[in-house]
Amino acid sequence: MNEELYKKAIAVLDANFQEGGFTIPSAGLYPFQWKWDSGFIAIGFAHYDVEKAKAEMRTLLDAQWENGFIPHIVFHTDNDSYFPGADFHQSELHPLSSKKYRSTGMTQPPVTGFVLQEMYRIAEDKEDMLNYIKEDIDKVFENHVYFYENRDPQNEGLVYIYHNWESGTDNSPVWDDIWKTMNPPEYTFVRKDTTHVDASQRPTKREYDHYLHIIDIAKQNNYDDAKIAELSPFLVQDPLFNAMLIKSNQALIELYELIGGNEEKIKTILKWQAKSIKSFNEKLFDAELGAYVHYDLRNEKPIRHITSSSFSPLFANIPSPERAKVLVKTMMDKFGGDDKYLCASFDPTNDRFNPKKYWRGPVWINMNWMLFLGLKNYGFADVAARMKHDSIELIEKYGFYEYFDCRKNTGEDNTPGYGGNNFSWSAALFIDMVNTD
Ligand code: GLC
Repeated sequence: MNEELYKKAIAVLDANFQEGGFTIPSAGLYPFQWKWDSGFIAIGFAHYDVEKAKAEMRTLLDAQWENGFIPHIVFHTDNDSYFPGADFHQSELHPLSSKKYRSTGMTQPPVTGFVLQEMYRIAEDKEDMLNYIKEDIDKVFENHVYFYENRDPQNEGLVYIYHNWESGTDNSPVWDDIWKTMNPPEYTFVRKDTTHVDASQRPTKREYDHYLHIIDIAKQNNYDDAKIAELSPFLVQDPLFNAMLIKSNQALIELYELIGGNEEKIKTILKWQAKSIKSFNEKLFDAELGAYVHYDLRNEKPIRHITSSSFSPLFANIPSPERAKVLVKTMMDKFGGDDKYLCASFDPTNDRFNPKKYWRGPVWINMNWMLFLGLKNYGFADVAARMKHDSIELIEKYGFYEYFDCRKNTGEDNTPGYGGNNFSWSAALFIDMVNTD
């Protein structure tokens, strides 16, 4: 193991940890607490500072709304280096929003269940960790109740997202198909992201108009879920989001079994699980593409592009072993050439692929981490080893960047690490990956 780099990873996380007991993803660019970032960060902390790992999850779950919802950004401080901030989102419009923290009115992938389980797996003092988990696990259960009761209008076991920022894969080319169905007004605003990062690596102004317009519609309806389901121009069943929900369901079952005495909750989760996995396999798998795809619930049609999210069901044990083989073949044929690092965020053979731009092609360490574990779980030892190797090599060569060029030879002499530097989840999941065979 590269001891120096390991120490550096710890230094990145410790520097981003804030007095309020939460960790920012990256100084300057992302100055608050982000939901799925927090989960990945807690896994990193669990390896060397258990109290920080617990604090990370506690602060996130403390921002839960009374209806079980967990927001995507918790605005712990007044910081005007980020747009759109608390004043734009106005979470207070929702009658059940947190009275303690201002936040956004949208969520992010449901990581909290499997993160608690990972913290338990990593912990040396299992009894101590289980005591902590007992304190917070019901909040995660309530969060899943929220999803199944409010985000599944056709009662399929598949939940929708109403904004691209809920997916975590913010400007994936998948959303281009939805932008074509919309014509938002031109907003006037001052962006902050492009003061920290080269504009060529970030979304365009017109993309931001779409993002803000969807929030406006939600705000006009006080973030009411039923109204959003009726009116939002963006309503998508995302394979990554649903895979993480299923993975977290499984984690809740196993943790509740360890804790004992939660039979009713376990029964409820088992029912969700059976329905969710069945619908996922029936509705989101595209046999012709050999991959899972997003489904546009507003316009009732699949969005037929391959992304790194297409392979994320491996992480949640969703495909049969035969189907898993098909997925891995698709991944290796399209994303896995010798001239590339695994795993591009978008199909390198598609016209919309851009190796430098955010979620339109670059490699993200959190996706690689999930795919590494999924591949390992299905017995694809060689591809799993490559996923881990490529992730570590990118970090060793370029640093703890937010995202990386997937091309081994970019033909340029600039660094192929893009976005924010000293990025927390790249450090946290590096720590976890080097500790996992
Ligand atoms: C970007 C990413 C999102 C992440 C956030 C904070 O917006 O697209 O997934 O949570 O940054 O790191």
